[in-house]
Amino acid sequence: MFITLEGPEGSGKTSVMKEVIARLRKEGFVIEETREPGGTPIAEQIRQVILQKENTKLDSRAEALLLAASRRQNLVEKIWPALKAGKIVICDRFIDSSLAYQGGARGLGIEAVLSINLFATESSYPQLTLLFDIPPELGLKRIAANANREINRLDLEQLSFHQKVRDTYLQLAKRFKDRFVIIDASLPLQTVIENTYQAIHNRLL
Ligand code: TMP
Repeated sequence: MFITLEGPEGSGKTSVMKEVIARLRKEGFVIEETREPGGTPIAEQIRQVILQKENTKLDSRAEALLLAASRRQNLVEKIWPALKAGKIVICDRFIDSSLAYQGGARGLGIEAVLSINLFATESSYPQLTLLFDIPPELGLKRIAANANREINRLDLEQLSFHQKVRDTYLQLAKRFKDRFVIIDASLPLQTVIENTYQAIHNRLL
């Protein structure tokens, strides 16, 4: 089972998943956690290039290609071997991040970004994608209030960029409705954790 977590900045998906994964592990599920961009030493090096605030000259298509390269490396080194070993893989961001951020918000087009990603992933899609949906105003407010979170190059984009990210995600949820489940991330944390747990548990049974 390959599960991905998606959402705009400040949706809280990473903290929610920590709790949910701990609960699932206690029940005996064997889970491999990873994230994108990154997840393996080489992919984490690519992450540095993508997210460094100083890299203001990074071209949009180069950004999309680097993200796809990082994704490929993570698949080959970590995700595919874990799935082969019968583990549940939970990846914090995957192909839909590229479709929403680079395809939608950067304006490269969903189909163009999809095509480079299908090359990178050999059409490996997740079986379940949880979209932690939140209005960008609220998400960005949460980031600003979280002193521990390092601000990256994409956080510095305008509100309109983050609005496009959200709109594209919602569009993708309609297009790929078999694998998408929308979680309302603006609800209180404990409710979001419970809803997320239920969504995953339902699919694992
Ligand atoms: P995060 O680790 O805090 O989620 O940050 C990753 C950042 O990279 C976030 O701003 C979203 C962005 N990103 C893309 O723009 N496209 C992608 O394909 C991925 C995986 C992430």
